[in-house]
Formats: sequence, C-alpha cells, structure tokens
Amino acid sequence: MRIENIRSTERFGSVRINDVQKVLELDSGKTENSPVGAPTGIKIHDEVIRSLEGQMAIVIPVKDEKLQLFEGVISGVPHDCSLIVVSNSSRKKVDRFRLEKDTLEQFCRHAQRSAYIIHQKDAAIAEIAKQAGYTDLIGEDGLVRNGKSEGMVIGLLMAMVLGKKYIGFIDADNYFPGAVLEYVKSYAAGFSMSTSPYAMVRILWRYKPKFAGRLYFKKWGRVSETTNKYLNSLLSAATGFETDIIKTGNAGEHAMTIKLAEILPYASGYAVEPQEIVSILEQSGAVLPAPYPTVAKHGIDVFQIETKNPHLHEEKGVVHLLDMLRSGLSAIHQSQLANSTIKKMIITELVKQEALQPDETLPPPHINRPLRKVDLKSAQTLLRQRLEDYSVSPKP
Ligand code: GDD
Ligand code: MG
Repeated sequence: MRIENIRSTERFGSVRINDVQKVLELDSGKTENSPVGAPTGIKIHDEVIRSLEGQMAIVIPVKDEKLQLFEGVISGVPHDCSLIVVSNSSRKKVDRFRLEKDTLEQFCRHAQRSAYIIHQKDAAIAEIAKQAGYTDLIGEDGLVRNGKSEGMVIGLLMAMVLGKKYIGFIDADNYFPGAVLEYVKSYAAGFSMSTSPYAMVRILWRYKPKFAGRLYFKKWGRVSETTNKYLNSLLSAATGFETDIIKTGNAGEHAMTIKLAEILPYASGYAVEPQEIVSILEQSGAVLPAPYPTVAKHGIDVFQIETKNPHLHEEKGVVHLLDMLRSGLSAIHQSQLANSTIKKMIITELVKQEALQPDETLPPPHINRPLRKVDLKSAQTLLRQRLEDYSVSPKP
C-alpha cells in the first residue's frame, strides 16, 4: 500500500494529531521504488502489513444486520487477523444470532480459519463483568447494556485475552468487502508509522454514496460535519488558534493499540467515537494534568487515513442520525475542556437541528470506565476459561 506523506501535525500536550493522509495506491508492488518520504508518498511493504495483521484483532459489532452484508464483511477481514464478532441481534421469533453463528462457522470452515462470536446478552459475560467490579457495563436487566460501545468493550476484553497488540473495529452493515480489506490495511499502515505504543488510526471515507434519484457520491454527512466542528472547537478554545485538523470525529471504522484502548473510557452507544477524541485531548496534559506519566512520555499518535473505496452501508433513518448527533455532542458538552461558550453553542446547534427540545437539558452520556481501572486479571482469567464456548473453529 502507498499513502500520502504526513502533511501537517497538530500537537496538543503529548498528543500528535496528524492531518488526513490519502491512500494513493492499494498495492504498491514488491520492490522499493521510492525513497522514504519522497513526494510520491510512503510505501508500506506487504510484509510489514502482514506482520501487523497477525497481531491485530478485528471486532465486528452487529445488531440485526442483513446476513448477506455480515457475510461480506467477515470475508473482507485479512486471514491473519483474529476475528471477533460481538452480536446484540434479536433471539426472539427468529434467532438471528444463531444465523450469524452459522454463517461465521461456514465461512471459517471454507476459509480454514478460526473466529469468535459472543452474544452481548450472554449471562456469563455479564457475570464476568460483575465479578471484576465492572458494573458500568451492566444494565437494569442484570446483563450487558445495549449499544455498539458496550459491544466494543466486550471485543476489547477478548482481544486482550487473545494477547493481541492492536484492535480494529468494522461495522457489519458494509456493502463492500473490498472496503473492509482496505480499512484493515490502512489500520496497519497507520500503526507502521507510529512512534509511540499509544496510537490510533481513524478512517475517513472518500465518498459515502447516497441515492437521491441517482447515485450521488457525497463526502460529508451532517452528523460528522457537526461533530468535527465542535471537537475542533475544544482544541481551538484551548490553544487560542483555530483549527480544523479533526476530520474523523465519528469514525466508526478505527483501530488502536491495546495499550491505548485500555486507558480510554467508552461512552455508551454512538457517543463512543467522539468520546475517544475528547478523552485523548483531556489526557494530553495540555490543559488538565496528564493521568499516566508513561503515556505522557511517549505521546499519543492519531492518524486519519482517507480510503479509496466508497463507504456504502445501511441507511437507518433521520431519528437514528439525530440520536447519533445528540449522543456525540453530549460527549463533547460534558468535557472538562468545554468552556461555557462551546457548551452554549452545542445546545443551540442541537435545538436548531431538532435533536433537543428548547427546554430540555442535555444528559451526559453513560461512561464505561477504562479497562485499566478494572480488575482486569480476574476478568481475563474468567473469560479465558470460557474461550472455547465462543470459538468457531473449523472441524478437521
Ligand atoms: N454489538 C452491538 N451491540 N452492535 C451494535 C449495536 C449493539 O447494541 N447497535 C448497533 N450495532 C452495530 C450495527 O449492527 C453496525 O454493525 C454497527 O454497530 C454500527 O451501527 P449502525 O447502526 O450501522 O451505525 P451508523 O452506520 O449509523 O453509524 C456508524 O458510523 C458512524 C460514523 O458515520 C457507527 O459506526 C457510528 O458509531 C459512527 O459514528
Ligand atoms: Mg451503519
């Protein structure tokens, strides 16, 4: 793969946020044909990508998606990655989880690879969380709460038990398996550039096609534009210099080193991706005290990579989008970095976009504590004992 050089980097305390780098070439050939840092871009060798893939878990959160899409997505994940599916699909009437498990099993049999699949409402998972004192994850029914974010946390625990170094997330409702492949290669490309054990790679789509009588290749969605604007306001207000460096505030497709993933809190549902950026900025030491000296020493690298494949996924309607906007902005609103002007602007924005009633207060998102703050040893031991229950391995 070949990607653009890093054009600019904004530094905020110990955090380095790199401007968007475009994928230039999906396959950059076998031999070295450009010096490192040449204007042609950065070539990332296949072997480097492969070696990183072998240390990476790809977590696929899924809730009631079309099986054809799910099947396409799993087939796009490179063979050497550990594949972890966390499902919150309905089991009433039709047991959709069973169908997903069957699909995954068949795929693993044909592709001769292993994978893991867990249902979010599995009582054993809730029990493990409770025994580790991680009640943040538990809802009123005594099971793990609903939400993509909660699914991600289960996936993260699994990745840790499997001894992985990197974790990447990919939604299950993607129409293009080739896009999935490109996301994972881009994650690896990002990690190969990092100089710190604390790194994150966020994907920016070149186009997100929409049907408006004809196929229209739209670049920005309303939610991501608004979220990016307010995340950038946090930075601008803190430094006194206006910036638009953050272009991936809502990036559902993103990856992290496990070291970074375990120190971040996970805001419930769709607040999760903006919250990650908020937390990274809060922990940068630029304004608030840096909580982890080792992280401050190495710094956190954030890469934003623009992929070539268009991103085509399921349209879930306006109410869903407004919910996403509201939860994302609530993560920014509750940040200690948000001054009163930013808070007011967020409320005005949400009311204008009809995501909040004029007399309503914006509730802060539910936050699942960083895994570092949990009794990880006991959670990992318990999960390791049950690993076989979640494994989908081809029978010889
Ligand atoms: N395990 C689990 N549990 N998965 C879930 C849940 C849940 O409760 N709810 C949704 N998912 C899965 C979906 O099936 C899908 O694979 C993925 O999480 C994303 O959910 P979507 O409903 O497809 O979200 P979206 O497409 O509107 O938003 C996506 O893109 C945004 C950026 O544009 C998400 O990834 C957002 O988090 C992201 O901000
Ligand atoms: Mg989607």
